[in-house]
Amino acid sequence: MAQSAEQTIRVGIAGTGSYLPERILTNDDLSKMVDTSDEWILSRTGMSERHIARDDEATSDMAAVAAQRALESAGVAAEDVDLVIVATCTPDMIFPNTACAVQEKIGATNAYCFDLSAACSGFLYGLETARGLIVSGIYSNVLVIGAEKMSCITDWEDRGTCVLFGDGAGAVLVQPLQGEGRGIISSAMGSDGTLGDLLKLPGGGSRFPASNATVNERLHYTKMGGNKVFKNAVVCMAEAGQKVLSQAGLEVSDVDWLIPHQANMRIIKAIADRAAFPMEKVCTNLERVGNISGASVPVALDEAVRDGRIKRGDTILSVVFGAGFTWGAMVLEW
Ligand code: UT7
Repeated sequence: MAQSAEQTIRVGIAGTGSYLPERILTNDDLSKMVDTSDEWILSRTGMSERHIARDDEATSDMAAVAAQRALESAGVAAEDVDLVIVATCTPDMIFPNTACAVQEKIGATNAYCFDLSAACSGFLYGLETARGLIVSGIYSNVLVIGAEKMSCITDWEDRGTCVLFGDGAGAVLVQPLQGEGRGIISSAMGSDGTLGDLLKLPGGGSRFPASNATVNERLHYTKMGGNKVFKNAVVCMAEAGQKVLSQAGLEVSDVDWLIPHQANMRIIKAIADRAAFPMEKVCTNLERVGNISGASVPVALDEAVRDGRIKRGDTILSVVFGAGFTWGAMVLEW
């Protein structure tokens, strides 16, 4: 479904926050765990290091810190939050949802809370959901959080995936726009369930409930057909990006910052090349944090806002792609 956006109620991001766990895992560390090297990881992915959560640190712990930082930057009290959406594929538990755990930690006592499952696309799906609910006029303060503890679903014996992922959380507070500016201008979300087998965590759900066999077969870890995922990621993100720009009546040259999902620097460069978009205007953090799935975009956004790259009035394009397959793009004025 696609939407262009001259809405009666304009919707924007009032505050951002993020959190990365302290522990850092470098490419050299990984080369002691599996048959890989700093040279291979850096040249094939662009990644050098990633943050890994403590054993006692769950997704909601990271999400709550990011959420508190977003509320502080927006100047909004936790009790005024109407809704908490946590986009994650690594919830604390299957139920209750992680958003309720965040609610309890931050004191968002008047909110209702749910998790959103769209893997690496979850944050933009959440932002799109928040936009729809705010445009309805019913809700005013929506926390959208992307938070992941990918290290707990990573097979540390599989060099094809374990070098890619990291942990962390990013959050935004979404509100009806008070002042100038257009906020979210246009979006385009998509899914293709026929390709679900290419990226999945098979064990522990209703298809393959947890058992000794699922553990022995390592079904509780991420499985990925890297090459095919790579190609689809490039095409889907590039096309979705073009689509939102044309819906918004904007050209590539109108975009000040591109914030793509951070899966692989070669994917990002391929998208930028297709659009003749300069890499200097792409916000990347995968060098330092790896692929944090649903947290990738909100962490990159928060970093760019806090270090002053993104300024009021800038036009931002974000594109995402993940398991499902799911993908999406959104253009907004900061
Ligand atoms: O976030 C959701 C979306 N995720 C993505 O978009 C990820 C998309 N995929 C990718 O980023 C890439 O496919 C990978 C980084 C996962 C893999 O890169 P690739 O260039 O597609 O490598 P490949 O899978 O085709 O493997 C090439 C070779 C293989 O060896 P042979 O068969 O040619 O002898 C692999 O066994 O590289 C080998 N290899 C490694 N070698 C050293 C795979 N992983 C490693 C490794 N270290 N970590």
